[in-house]
Amino acid sequence: MILGAVFRALGAHPAGWRMPGAHRDPLQDARVLRRTARAAEAAKFDYLFFGEWLATGPDLEFRDPDLLARIDPVSSIAYLAGVTKRIGLIATANTAFFDLFTLARQTASIDRLSSGRAGLNVVTGADPRAAGNHGRDGRAGTEPNYDQAGELVRALRLLWDSWEDDAFVRNQRTGRLIDPEKLHRTDAVGDYLRVTGPLTVPRPVQGHLPIVHAGTSAHSRELSRELADLALVALPTIEHAVAFRTDLRAQARALGRPQGSPLIVTPVLPVVAQTRADAQAIYDDLLRLVPLDDGSPLAQSADFPANRSIRALSAAVGVPLGTPELDDEVPLRVTRRFAEGGQRILESVIARTGRTVEGESAVTYRHLLATHAVPTAAIVGSGHEVADHLAEWFEAGAVDGFNIQSPFLQAQFDAFTSLVVPELQRRELFRTEYEGSTLREHLGLARPENLHVEEALDASRSA
Ligand SMILES: Cc1cc2nc3c(=O)[nH]c(=O)nc-3n(C[C@H](O)[C@H](O)[C@H](O)COP(=O)(O)O)c2cc1C
Repeated sequence: MILGAVFRALGAHPAGWRMPGAHRDPLQDARVLRRTARAAEAAKFDYLFFGEWLATGPDLEFRDPDLLARIDPVSSIAYLAGVTKRIGLIATANTAFFDLFTLARQTASIDRLSSGRAGLNVVTGADPRAAGNHGRDGRAGTEPNYDQAGELVRALRLLWDSWEDDAFVRNQRTGRLIDPEKLHRTDAVGDYLRVTGPLTVPRPVQGHLPIVHAGTSAHSRELSRELADLALVALPTIEHAVAFRTDLRAQARALGRPQGSPLIVTPVLPVVAQTRADAQAIYDDLLRLVPLDDGSPLAQSADFPANRSIRALSAAVGVPLGTPELDDEVPLRVTRRFAEGGQRILESVIARTGRTVEGESAVTYRHLLATHAVPTAAIVGSGHEVADHLAEWFEAGAVDGFNIQSPFLQAQFDAFTSLVVPELQRRELFRTEYEGSTLREHLGLARPENLHVEEALDASRSA
């Protein structure tokens, strides 16, 4: 089973930073970054994963506070190359805004600095404000451009292959340092990108960095089946995931890609404690700490999300709820009338908090509204139960692994490594030691041939 640790300093749950003892100061992110990286490596995670967001604004304070202000992903993995020894390091880059040659240089360099542990997640972008930060018209370029993304990945691989592995002959006697035949120009010309090369950095230790692609649309899927080593996809149910994985791999196979590629990883947000009741109490607290429209000055602020009012909840559950207090219990006569969307919200609250309608520990409007306002892939339970969930998905052939998103740091990441990882190891679903040294080796991916060499071989064969 592949396990990646998604680094989000303020936590993957928007209310995580408000939990007692949680990391909440972006000025101290470097400290928590080091600590999490070392803990993830000690737990033998395959990789640390860094998402990216190229714009900010006060609206993110409520929606996703971790995106407000943080250390950028490429800088983070460059730094961690020196702080860690074995764990893989994956940074995200938005193909619409990154300069191809610079990205090739940086990623090849970090792969060298980390002895082959770097990976690259390519995304096509989501925040329209990013354009304005890159000298472009903010109204243009908000549509994800997958043709450009494909061109970028293909060109990156050619650039990484500029130097053959044995290009440096280093002959002190003759004075020949390189074999110039083994240095290749790129000369890639596409609709969006052109680059001459060669690259000013030697070939990465891994040959090509593993390419991750995170997306959901049909275009995103096309990119994954052709070019991704690892597809990061949010999948609602096991059945859906099994069908998705089987289908994507069959399509990849038809394109001539090896059996078993791409690997499929899905994000999960585990809330874990010694017992299920303790984990449910933590989740209950997270819900309680989601700011809702309770008429307070905070809720009146300009950027407060519109979906956090009882009115929004009425629409979501399909029943007019009137004007109850947020902490009022929701009566059975109301929940009975919930439409499908409402039933789903209610089931999620019951499963994740242990509360029941009109029970001793009762479901309130606050629970329903917070769950509606902050949809998450939360799995709440003891270490054993969370391991059961991951094992069930993995053994059903739904996914190859998981991107673990801790709701807050450090306590929840430590709870995962101390309660869930040993349980997965006991079941022989997860490694107890790193066997390989590169990220490719962790993921079971072969080191690719140099594309320029391959091309020359093909040409000589057909001549
Ligand atoms: C699990 C997951 C994580 C993602 N993380 C990021 C990210 O950190 N930064 C980013 O710009 N896009 C990220 N994306 C991708 C964007 O959501 C996506 O590129 C954009 O919405 C348009 O793509 P679409 O074709 O999937 O609709 C992520 C996607 C998924 C499924």
